[in-house]
Amino acid sequence: MTQLIQERILRLKQEKNACILAHCYQTHDILEVADYVGDSFGLAQNAFKTDCSTVIMCGVRFMAEMVKILSPEKRVLLPKAEAGCPMAEQLDPEMLRQLQAAYPDYTTVAYINTTAELKTLCDVCVTSSSAVKIIRNMDAEKILFIPDCNLGDYISKQVPEKQFQLIHGGCPTHVRMTRDDVLRARAAHPNALLLVHPECRPQVTEMADFVGSTTEIMHYAENSDAREFIIGTENSIVQHLGISHPEKLFYALSKDCVCHNMKVTTIADVLHCLEGTDGEEILLEESVRLRAKKSIDEMIRLGK
Ligand code: 13P
Ligand code: SF4
Repeated sequence: MTQLIQERILRLKQEKNACILAHCYQTHDILEVADYVGDSFGLAQNAFKTDCSTVIMCGVRFMAEMVKILSPEKRVLLPKAEAGCPMAEQLDPEMLRQLQAAYPDYTTVAYINTTAELKTLCDVCVTSSSAVKIIRNMDAEKILFIPDCNLGDYISKQVPEKQFQLIHGGCPTHVRMTRDDVLRARAAHPNALLLVHPECRPQVTEMADFVGSTTEIMHYAENSDAREFIIGTENSIVQHLGISHPEKLFYALSKDCVCHNMKVTTIADVLHCLEGTDGEEILLEESVRLRAKKSIDEMIRLGK
């Protein structure tokens, strides 16, 4: 049945001149029908490369907004309206204005996991794979980093020459993993390498063999000579790696590292979205889009 749905999706994609972008945290059946699969930075880079008139963004809302910001002429659809990212909504514009007033000589750097409205107030966006490079490339010495203090802490250790102001925020999925999970997993799999996402707590990243974005973790595991890996990010990565590399063994650092928002979208939702019976078209006020675009353009320029 899944294959039948996938075949209908592939036919409709052609008929409707649509393309599917998917974040790596989507389920495997969705990745199989996607035109591009990647991390947040890869999705931003590919948002305007496609010549399709419709883009279906399988991920969460801020990713669909990012595509619309970069490709306003395209029809951008989010298959499930409720697929949000709780971290992206932790700050509202008024809270950010207050922070900026408290740190007037700081440059605001926003993790891409923020709403379009919040991006209008930021100087530069970063993703987990581009943050270190971008912040090193920036002229500014003082950085107000929002909203993820765990990613902020990780970056500040990689760029010690700059001064960081972090706030209390983060990914509710990645903070579930603890030092005890690492001790347990290491004891159970003594030959495995530990690969984690920088959204994890510092106690976890400090114990890892490799820290990187979702795509970076996948590439590391694929290219490594090691045979066993403990994966400290959303558990779909454990499944994708297990399917593409059955000769290797992948273990979840915690069975609880599941992002329910990323799992809201199913393969049937993608079909309904293409058929026009479900999904939300992303619409942004032009003034919001243009102001938010500046921070994403800066990210792409400094991340090259
Ligand atoms: P990356 O796509 O940069 O790895 O970030 C992971 C994430 O949590 C996306 O919401
Ligand atoms: Fe947001 Fe975390 Fe889910 Fe990514 S994994 S979408 S940051 S809640």
